[in-house]
Amino acid sequence: MPVDPLHAPPAADGPRHVALIMDGNGRWAERRGVPRAIGHREGVQALKRTVQAAPALGIHCLTVFGFSTENWRRPVEEVTDLMGLVRSYVVSDLKRLEKEGVRVLVLGRRAGLPADIAEIVERVEATTAHNDKFILQVAFNYGGRADIVDAAQRHVDRVLAGEATGPLDEETFGTGLSTAGGPPVDVIVRTSGEQRLSNFLLWEAAYAELVYQNVLWPDYGPDALADVVDQYRNRDRRFGGRAAATPALAAG
Ligand code: FPP
Repeated sequence: MPVDPLHAPPAADGPRHVALIMDGNGRWAERRGVPRAIGHREGVQALKRTVQAAPALGIHCLTVFGFSTENWRRPVEEVTDLMGLVRSYVVSDLKRLEKEGVRVLVLGRRAGLPADIAEIVERVEATTAHNDKFILQVAFNYGGRADIVDAAQRHVDRVLAGEATGPLDEETFGTGLSTAGGPPVDVIVRTSGEQRLSNFLLWEAAYAELVYQNVLWPDYGPDALADVVDQYRNRDRRFGGRAAATPALAAG
């Protein structure tokens, strides 16, 4: 369903959709004097712990930033290592994700992915397509600006093909984003103490709460996620209106 901020849940209910910028793998490794690859490997363990902890906290959907369109600028060994982790994460965890009713969706550009990763992405999405207990969205080769540009291009293509007419509105535009059909993002979390979005979910961030945590991603787990839920419950989500006020105009 498209995002309708006026009908999104109040903060007191707790977040249903949490998006995570998993930052700090490199610093975690540096502090221990071990290669960055070890930090990323521990990052995968943290991801597993976090996905397992989420349903008990009332969370139905997690979106994680696995690899950005800008991450290709990293040294080739690190890129190769991150690609290898995706391979092993999916291969080692697919059975469990499937058994636990997790639907996995991959956001981002498919073109430009190594052929075997593209094949893994197709396979994991197809294998888990019927699951509905929990949604795990992995942003991979993803950039918020690229996603908005791609949505615009999709609309242009539809118009040129005679499949769309009339003025473009937010709801129609949203159907071209890679998050289309998913629940609205309630909160975006960034770990490691950095305070910026770094091109993550730019459109979807419009009314999301932002939470910055000082923990490095490999140390992340159930307690840190529970802290996000607590912080969110204490926020006052107004979506541009005022709490407990009758709106003067319908949205649109
Ligand atoms: C940031 O740490 C993290 C990443 C670039 C990628 C996150 C990837 C994982 C947790 C593992 C694999 C992902 C999946 C989806 C299986 P950083 O290297 O930028 O840390 P730094 O800022 O301390 O250098």
